[in-house]
Amino acid sequence: MKIGIIGAGNIGGNLTRRLTALGHEVSVANSRGPHTLTALAEETGATPVTVAEAARGAEIVVVTVPFKNVPDLPAGLFDGAAEGFTVIDTGNYYPQRRDGRIAGVEDEGLTESRWTERHLGHPVIKAFNGTYAQDILDRHRPAGAPDRMALPVAGDDAAGKEAVRALIDQLGFDTVDAGGIDDSWRQQPDTPVYGLREGVEGVTKALAEASPQRPEGFRG
Ligand SMILES: NC(=O)c1ccc[n+]([C@@H]2O[C@H](COP(=O)([O-])OP(=O)(O)OC[C@H]3O[C@@H](n4cnc5c(N)ncnc54)[C@H](OP(=O)(O)O)[C@@H]3O)[C@@H](O)[C@H]2O)c1
Repeated sequence: MKIGIIGAGNIGGNLTRRLTALGHEVSVANSRGPHTLTALAEETGATPVTVAEAARGAEIVVVTVPFKNVPDLPAGLFDGAAEGFTVIDTGNYYPQRRDGRIAGVEDEGLTESRWTERHLGHPVIKAFNGTYAQDILDRHRPAGAPDRMALPVAGDDAAGKEAVRALIDQLGFDTVDAGGIDDSWRQQPDTPVYGLREGVEGVTKALAEASPQRPEGFRG
């Protein structure tokens, strides 16, 4: 499958590593340009591209940049993507540590992914946001393994969500349907499921136990 990855840091880099290892055709972009991605390209076989080129022909586009940088992404980001393409959003809002105060989340009460999707102008599927980047490399397991982790996946587009769940299964993780984007507060930072290394049962229970109130440490 053709996959575009926008952001080549902890998460984007490790998704590039695993998705190329699975045989996917990956294009990867960062803010500084393809010439800074030579080492990752040599290691993985991914194609380094500009942000504007990243989505070309892609069936899945992963947006994995710091939350505060989402509005900097250029208009026309998804021009040339494959018909019916799906966008994965891995983002988290860290107002105190990284992102500053963002009114759409704080005052309008938007979930983080609803805010992101409004900036991107395309529906998103929220996945990997509570997964340690290193776990993408180290904790994948074959289907049915007793210690296979599950990841929550939220989104309003049923077909897109199925496509993402199938990809995550290939990557070596189970998934739990965490509802739509308005429900996705259940997997935001500091919720019980955030960073949880458990299977389907534990993840389902943790999602049910989440509180809609934004935790003090994650308010701007
Ligand atoms: N780290 C984790 O374990 C983890 C886990 C789950 C979710 N997340 C979330 O996933 C998102 C990415 O996290 P990360 O840790 O992978 O970030 P990171 O290591 O800081 O990497 C960020 C990447 O985004 C790129 N970038 C920044 N602004 C950009 C722009 N305007 N256009 C194109 N690329 C841009 C950076 O490119 P340059 O280096 O060229 O500037 C860099 O490649 C964040 O929202 C984070 O909270 C992180």
